[in-house]
Amino acid sequence: MGKQVVLLPGDGVGKEIMQSAKVILEAISNEYGYSFTFHEHSIGGDAIDKYGVPLPQQTVEACKEADAILLGAVGGPKWDNISAHNRPEKGLLGIRKEMGLFANLRPIKGINALLSASPLKEEFIKNSDILIIRELTGGLYFGEPSERRDNGNSVVDTLFYRRDEMERIIDKAFQQAMKRSKHLTSVDKANVLESSRLWREVVEEKRQEYPEVEVEHLLVDAAAMKLITQPNAFDVIVTENLFGDILSDEASVLTGSLGMLPSASMREDHVGLYEPVHGSAPDITGKGIANPLGMILSTAMMLRHSFQMDEAATEIERAVNYVLDLGYHTPDLAKIGQKAITTKEMTDLIVDHITLKSISD
Ligand code: NAD
Ligand code: IPM
Ligand code: MN
Repeated sequence: MGKQVVLLPGDGVGKEIMQSAKVILEAISNEYGYSFTFHEHSIGGDAIDKYGVPLPQQTVEACKEADAILLGAVGGPKWDNISAHNRPEKGLLGIRKEMGLFANLRPIKGINALLSASPLKEEFIKNSDILIIRELTGGLYFGEPSERRDNGNSVVDTLFYRRDEMERIIDKAFQQAMKRSKHLTSVDKANVLESSRLWREVVEEKRQEYPEVEVEHLLVDAAAMKLITQPNAFDVIVTENLFGDILSDEASVLTGSLGMLPSASMREDHVGLYEPVHGSAPDITGKGIANPLGMILSTAMMLRHSFQMDEAATEIERAVNYVLDLGYHTPDLAKIGQKAITTKEMTDLIVDHITLKSISD
């Protein structure tokens, strides 16, 4: 039996880039003889429109049966003024929590062809290769009480973590550091937050199990600065939910566009949810020009992490680099030259390269 993949296109450009993911997987299945069965379900604003809730029960059930999940993006101005518990974003937070996907891996790699697309100086971003590991099912996003307003005059958001939630994500980060350059930066706000002080304590305990890994603690404000002034000083970064959200969008500047970044949301087994880091991009929705590469690279992460199809994953990454090296790019990377192309054209070029490569083998 082939791999059962749930597709959650969601809203805005999410729908447009999911089309690219499907086409790429079809090409991979033709070239390598793999079989993928797609099950498309609703989430976010799309689900609010169809079923009145951002995360319908049938979507949760389908995800629980799946070998892996691909998600486009959720949200948009259409749903911006509905109540907090029924917003599209609740659908995304809900599926992460329901599936127990506590570890969000966000790789950021300076791509040679895109060095000039970044507003940062090439000499600083060249060779940058960072893995942000973001805790995904705890912290301010999920802390109780969630009764957030009192007559509109006071509000509360609760930053809650249990020690074991910290232990499992920090352990994951050490494991990843062991597979890479063995350098781990833990980012917190231990000069202010009690949760950060426990976080630091847990990092200090865990490092005893990984004596080869060099550990550094950074406060989040200084980390935000260092990330764009000395990106080469980082290998693996581990941090809590909200800090990881913010730092990863910041780090996307190293690649030239937020549209470039993929992510994998994992738990202890091989099931995972894969999605680009960016959102539904309402300002370019419907124009057919969204950068599909964050989504396509997320698909490669799915092949590698959930299905152990390493060769196919590497082939997608190689094809992406090849097409960028030729100078093709979507308009979000406009600074690199004249050949701005559409989402579909970019996707088709990558498919052509995947297909050609296997013919020449
Ligand atoms: P956004 O990430 O959607 O867009 C920020 C900027 O980056 C925009 O100028 C957009 O055009 C650009 N951009 C993003 N992805 C791009 C791509 N693939 N190609 C080219 N340009 C791209 O963030 P936002 O505007 O703050 O949020 C819009 C909506 O998306 C909100 O409702 C937000 O809650 C939601 N959101 C969802 C996710 C998700 O589903 N994972 C992530 C972030 C934001
Ligand atoms: C992300 C997004 C989400 C988050 C939102 C849409 C809930 O910004 O995946 O980075 O904050 O986790
Ligand atoms: Mn985000």
